[in-house]
Amino acid sequence: NEGKEIVIIDNFSNSKPEVLDKIKQITGKDFKFYEMDYSNKEELNKVFTENKIDAVLNFAGYKAVGESVKKPIEYYTNNISGALVLLDTMKKYGVNELREMYLSFFESKGHLRMKSFSLVPKNDNSLLLINSGMAPLKPYFTGQEVPPRRRVTTCQKCIRTGDIENVGKTARHGTFFEMLGNFSFGDYFKTEAIHWTWEFLTDVVGLDPDRLYPSVYQDDDEAFDIWNKQIGIDSSRIFRFGKEDNFWEHGAGPCGPCSEVYYDRGEKYGCGKPGCTVGCDCDRYMEVWNNVFTQFNNDGHNNYTELEQKNIDTGMGLERLAVVVQDVDSIFDVDTIKALRDKVCDMAHVTYLEDPKKDVSIRLITDHIRSVTFMTSDGIVPSNEGRGYVLRRLLRRAARHGRLLGIKGKFLSELAKTVIEVSEDAYPEVSSLQNWQIQLLRFRRTHILNLERRRNISSTRSKRKRKASIRL
Ligand code: ALA
Repeated sequence: NEGKEIVIIDNFSNSKPEVLDKIKQITGKDFKFYEMDYSNKEELNKVFTENKIDAVLNFAGYKAVGESVKKPIEYYTNNISGALVLLDTMKKYGVNELREMYLSFFESKGHLRMKSFSLVPKNDNSLLLINSGMAPLKPYFTGQEVPPRRRVTTCQKCIRTGDIENVGKTARHGTFFEMLGNFSFGDYFKTEAIHWTWEFLTDVVGLDPDRLYPSVYQDDDEAFDIWNKQIGIDSSRIFRFGKEDNFWEHGAGPCGPCSEVYYDRGEKYGCGKPGCTVGCDCDRYMEVWNNVFTQFNNDGHNNYTELEQKNIDTGMGLERLAVVVQDVDSIFDVDTIKALRDKVCDMAHVTYLEDPKKDVSIRLITDHIRSVTFMTSDGIVPSNEGRGYVLRRLLRRAARHGRLLGIKGKFLSELAKTVIEVSEDAYPEVSSLQNWQIQLLRFRRTHILNLERRRNISSTRSKRKRKASIRL
């Protein structure tokens, strides 16, 4: 490769240092490096003209610009004469694009695309709210009901409130999320599920394979071998974890061992502690996809019986996938959620990331208004118990934090409109949110303010009680 110029263009802010190092090692020389947005054709042309570029390769994403490079970097550095451009072309797909890419990919693999089910579970007393893609499909897994097709794909709206106290305080907790899923009811099993996971993440989305790490249930040699021998991932990169991490169950019903896929977001997100690797609690290795090999049924008292049919239940948090693809800090920075976050900031005349205390309120409202809008559009109304109580609690918390930010006026109902705008294509039910439901959001806030006012002037109430009402 004598005399060859190497030019690298990358659209990432965190260009992979290890890739750049590797190129330097192989070629033994420096290269010109441009970090730029490919959509800026003028800039791109300038780089091409300046460098007399005559070969263009797409390096990390397999959607080729010229030629696909599934071969090692050595192949290209040794075989191309003239200037060489390595483009890292993973596009920063938006949330709505990623959802569509996923659903149409699984349609192309014979799956029936179904609409998201309501957040209100049907005939399932073990859940207050739908919390995963598989939850509304339980009867298909157990064989109790016949599915419309044995392969189904959905993007399911989900709410999990287990970590509600942390929402806002951290950038990674939230109550509302969308879960992408592909399901097999007694049809395909581990082999296809794993192959399609890999194909979607690397070929379709264009994630760098070197940043992906699978995990398997500790003694699931079958899944290990598929990753290792069929997909070709080195055994040192496949992690075996125990029941706590790699066995999926939520309440009663179908469950089983699972195989997750983690994405290495780079050192800048790491804790830097020695031994930080896949499974570490910090933000570096982010779990993006979970393939559950649904083989058992839990009767709700931890008695497991083998299911007659073997199933696949997969789940990938859409917002998390977007975090990785858009290379942003947290779910509060992905395009659709950021639109909402910006609206909160506008209303409060504050800037995100200027005051940590305010950030807590900004994130909390941004998250809670999504849950509240979707719950309301599924017909849930605030009440003293059950899911109505969850809604009341979310409303009160959002209203209180609005007040902490000094927002005046009917802000929750205004924010609900933004939720509707960014979500109605995928969830038409939100646009039918009736006026009375929007009014309800207004009413709640006024109601909350009155409650708060009363609480502040009441000197007889104990501190403890006061705390309890703040938590609501
Ligand atoms: N049901 C599995 C999960 O939610 C896929 O992670």
